Amino acid sequence: MTNNKNKKISGFSKLDKKEKIDWVIRNYFDHTKDSLATLKKYWNNDDKLQNIHDEFIENAISNFYLPYGIAPNFKINNNIYCVPMAIEESSVVAAAAKSARFWIDRGGFKATVVTKKKLGHVHFLWKGIHTEELQNFFHHIKTKFFTQTEGLTDNMRKRGGGIIDVQLIDKTSDIDNYYQIEASFDTCDAMGANFINTVLEKMAKILEEEIFHSTLSHPNVEIIMCILSNYTPECLVRCEVNAPIKSMVSGTDISPQIFAEKFLRAIEIAETQVYRAVTHNKGIMNGIDSVIVATGNDYRAVEACAHAYAGRSGQYRSLTHAEISNGELSFWIEIPIALGTVGGITKLHPMVKFSHHLLGNPNAEDLMKITAAVGLAQNFSALRSLTTTGIQKGHMKMHLLNVLNQLEATKEEKIKMIEHFKNDVAHHNKIVQALNDLRKKS
Ligand code: MEV
Repeated sequence: MTNNKNKKISGFSKLDKKEKIDWVIRNYFDHTKDSLATLKKYWNNDDKLQNIHDEFIENAISNFYLPYGIAPNFKINNNIYCVPMAIEESSVVAAAAKSARFWIDRGGFKATVVTKKKLGHVHFLWKGIHTEELQNFFHHIKTKFFTQTEGLTDNMRKRGGGIIDVQLIDKTSDIDNYYQIEASFDTCDAMGANFINTVLEKMAKILEEEIFHSTLSHPNVEIIMCILSNYTPECLVRCEVNAPIKSMVSGTDISPQIFAEKFLRAIEIAETQVYRAVTHNKGIMNGIDSVIVATGNDYRAVEACAHAYAGRSGQYRSLTHAEISNGELSFWIEIPIALGTVGGITKLHPMVKFSHHLLGNPNAEDLMKITAAVGLAQNFSALRSLTTTGIQKGHMKMHLLNVLNQLEATKEEKIKMIEHFKNDVAHHNKIVQALNDLRKKS
């Protein structure tokens, strides 16, 4: 057995791809041929395309596939979308598609972008005694943060965006001598991370220089860092569905009224109970993340932001809400989703390009709306199952194929097993048993 520990190497990034692979396999794998074959199986035959992937990140030695699925029938603001989703979890696309199909006949999803502002900060220390002195000085030099960054913001301004505002924030009650320059941006259809960070770094230089040449009682600052914030509560999208309760066919033997009431309770539970809220929101993010991955956006940023937003009241709560009024169920999500449709890998990754084309090349606002609708749809499907049949029925149906693949079932065996478990919850042991029985019989 290879000892997989304590393998130190310097200069790994300087090795070429083949040398990196040789080193990894020599040190971490016993079956050299098998592991090399696995890595190579996932290379693209098209060298140019493989090269693009190799250059996305450092030390790339292969590609890592995710299934790419499609959820059709998403009616959002009267447009019908076929939504791309990249995710490994078996039941997510099926759940989104089911929900989209349900709502297409009930008015569809109505989505609006509430605000679309991003923030970034220059974090710095100023050791002067009187905050007002710094504040007055800041107001005096404020326009320079706009004028002296014009070279950087030129293109963005031509597209209708740029720096919205710049503020000095006094944070000395949190940390001694600590202040922020808080800049807000409109990055149009770009995610804008590089743009924001570049502008912030320039703002830090402006601040340093201006203070250095000032008559302030303490004429220097210590810049700690310059970075955008992934907390974007002002990049907010709202999406809702509503329908008369009597049209809520639950698909089980409970009445539409009881279904709607249970649905409402489930939301109330997620609004008040953190243990449930986390799972509830995780289900929403199943849909949101998979659209974000398929469209080449940064799902870690959106995840981090969504959870901070869910906890903004001091308690972590549901991102979706519902109410019953005049015999109608309204169900909505309000969530910050900062996305871009230009820049990043949007024009580079062929599958990302495919996704954008499939969605009709949306702008950032439209992509925010589509993504929010998928999150809401995902949550609707989860709650509908949870409050009626239970989640396992749908989950295990999709999971059945995973287990059958693990057991190397043939195509014929799969067809028979799907039929066998048509009306039964398929647990792992049951599937093993049923497949063994089938194999014994034939
Ligand atoms: C599973 O990935 C997601 C669910 O647990 C979400 C939920 O419970 O609402 C089904």
